[in-house]
Amino acid sequence: MKRTLEIWRESEGVRGHFERYTLENLNPAMSILDVLDRLNEDLIRAGSEAIAFESDCREGICGACGMTVNGRPHGPQSNTPACQQRLRDFDNRIIRLEPLRSAALPVLRDLVVDRRALDRVIIAGGYVGINVGTAPDADTERVGHDVVEETLDFAACIGCGACVAACPNGSAQLFVGAKLAHLARVPQAHNDRTRRAIALVEEAELLFGPCSNYGECAQVCPARIPLAAVAAVNKERLRAACARRVRRSAGSA
Ligand code: SF4
Ligand code: FES
Repeated sequence: MKRTLEIWRESEGVRGHFERYTLENLNPAMSILDVLDRLNEDLIRAGSEAIAFESDCREGICGACGMTVNGRPHGPQSNTPACQQRLRDFDNRIIRLEPLRSAALPVLRDLVVDRRALDRVIIAGGYVGINVGTAPDADTERVGHDVVEETLDFAACIGCGACVAACPNGSAQLFVGAKLAHLARVPQAHNDRTRRAIALVEEAELLFGPCSNYGECAQVCPARIPLAAVAAVNKERLRAACARRVRRSAGSA
């Protein structure tokens, strides 16, 4: 199989632009990252600069591989990370690779973006402060099976940033909602529920755009986080505002 790749090259002092590479003898089962590996071997052998891209697990777990493939975050297959997009899934002979595109995710080099804005939202949420004493019995906090399943569905977010890049507003609402919906369901994290909701939403509003319910985010999310996460942001925000008001009026009574 022969394919032409158009790849975004950008580094300090080099203005971003596409460069074209043609590769032959490719296997249809190769992923986009396998193709980049092959290309980098050729480039290094020729004494040229390798293409910078991120990857870790290569099996849809870590979220490091986020990039734009043929104009779509992660690539043509919906809800599939870039590391799992295979050559056999592409109709086009030309494959265009560029970084995730969003003002909140600035390009560091070639296909690598700075995802620290997502980290800042998580950091704003803080940690859960509980005096756990000695190791608790696993049965101390009973959580129903349905709740566990729902919690794990929202906890599946891998922080890839594709939802932000897919959103015309650059909103991180799916990401924020996944965190809030996940932690709102587990009793161990209830202590800080109000503070966490306010802090996460405030930080996200500083760094990302607003949500207009386009739904593009859920189409590309490799963890299949549902749009219910977006509703969870509004629910947690409203709940937190009410809880704060009740606390203030109790304090002034
Ligand atoms: S919500 Fe989905 S698309 Fe967004 S960061 Fe998490 S895993 Fe990636
Ligand atoms: S490399 Fe880990 S999700 Fe793609």
